[in-house]
Amino acid sequence: MKVLALNGSARGGKGVTARLLAALTSGLTGGGAQVRVMEVARLKVAPCLACLKCMLKTPGVCAQHDDMEQVYPALQAADLLVLATPVYTDNMSAQIKAVIDRCICTMQPFLTQGPDDRVRHPAQWSMPGQMLLLSTCSFPEPATFAPLVATFRAQAANFFSQPLAELCIPGSIALQMEPQRLEPHLELLAQAGLALAQSGQIPPALLEQINRPPLSPEQYLEIGRRYEEVCRQRLGG
Ligand SMILES: Cc1cc2nc3c(=O)[nH]c(=O)nc-3n(C[C@H](O)[C@H](O)[C@H](O)COP(=O)(O)O)c2cc1C
Repeated sequence: MKVLALNGSARGGKGVTARLLAALTSGLTGGGAQVRVMEVARLKVAPCLACLKCMLKTPGVCAQHDDMEQVYPALQAADLLVLATPVYTDNMSAQIKAVIDRCICTMQPFLTQGPDDRVRHPAQWSMPGQMLLLSTCSFPEPATFAPLVATFRAQAANFFSQPLAELCIPGSIALQMEPQRLEPHLELLAQAGLALAQSGQIPPALLEQINRPPLSPEQYLEIGRRYEEVCRQRLGG
């Protein structure tokens, strides 16, 4: 299995997203998958210009020349695309969204009835057959991920990819105050990566465990009070 993992955090390797992704990819690699990780924040990826040259002038090829020229071949080589993104204003990061928008060059201008009975553009070239969402967010409630998950599933459908799973771990403010609280989830993510590489899927019970928040709202708020103290000190008050 060839995996392309895009880390869409603006903080790149320093963020919680990177910790989650490292755990997942350690399991994937341990199970024999070939994994390539790209930090989107290190790449120069301009927003889509909507010029539609990729559909009407140079089919399948974007008119812009930037670091997407590294991402396109990596996408073409991958069986599984891991979209690792923090929640930014209730959705994926702008960094990841720019990459996804630029993948409109995978589409032909024509119209077809998709397998889900929705009208789609047929593919010019194929995105990875499967996609997986990995995310974190500051606040403690799993409901925070609802718009992101809906967007992720819609994007997978746009690209005729199967949305394999959503792995969403909330509470990053507290998890950064007490990084050891994330350890059990990192272990679960490593197990998920291993299972994925070996069997092509994540067992439902494991998925359920991963998506169970590491902290209760009460635990989160208790740690959050110390976080507020740190903020006040930094503000000089
Ligand atoms: C621009 C921006 C918007 C954010 N919006 C939300 C949000 O809507 N809900 C939330 O729970 N966290 C939100 N966060 C917090 C991030 O999801 C959180 O800090 C996460 O840990 C960032 O990922 P990282 O640790 O990999 O950098 C936002 C952060 C930024 C920078």
